[in-house]
Amino acid sequence: MKTIRLCILFSGTGSNMLNLIRTLHLREFIDERDCVCRIEIVATLCNNPQAKGIQALQEFHIPCLVLSHKGLEREVYDALLVREIRRYEPALCVLSGFMRILTPIFTQHIRAINIHPSFLPHHKGAHAIRDSFESPQDFGGVSVHWVSDELDSGAIIAQEKLPKVAGESLEDFEARIHELEYKLFPQAILRALALHTRS
Ligand code: GAR
Repeated sequence: MKTIRLCILFSGTGSNMLNLIRTLHLREFIDERDCVCRIEIVATLCNNPQAKGIQALQEFHIPCLVLSHKGLEREVYDALLVREIRRYEPALCVLSGFMRILTPIFTQHIRAINIHPSFLPHHKGAHAIRDSFESPQDFGGVSVHWVSDELDSGAIIAQEKLPKVAGESLEDFEARIHELEYKLFPQAILRALALHTRS
């Protein structure tokens, strides 16, 4: 059976990463030729040695490579990342809360997708949940897109709006955004890989 190898990059809590492990790792899917194949998350990489997600990964027996970016120029760090990712020969690299602005050294050499907690092109950047909460729009959202040279701007794979609820707190809005992420992200990855679930 064919195995589709994924690498996940993260920086913090890693709740999306854990959800991807639960929903996709070592599970079987059907490819475009109607063949059964299996997804394997072969490695995770983290730029933040303090990230909570590192501990949470321990029960899964998936390698976690912690590569701090401290003191390194962006290009130097990205070249390091590319070198390490290539060792694992992934079909796709998944940015799951990886809070780095990537240079072409990464974007031109690694096939990657990213999840962003807003309805792009609205609210790009590192504070998307707060920015969309504070905006006059009556919706937030979640987008999954191909990684390109420009931050949060690659072709959309899947996205969904989340209507705001009158009077809700930022925390409640954020919790609903994460719930939507947990639903949309695995679906988007399957779409990016042209896979579907077995019926
Ligand atoms: C997620 O909400 C993800 O969409 C966001 O970081 C959070 C990571 O949470 N990513 C970005 O803002 C990228 N610009 P997690 O570590 O619990 O999955």
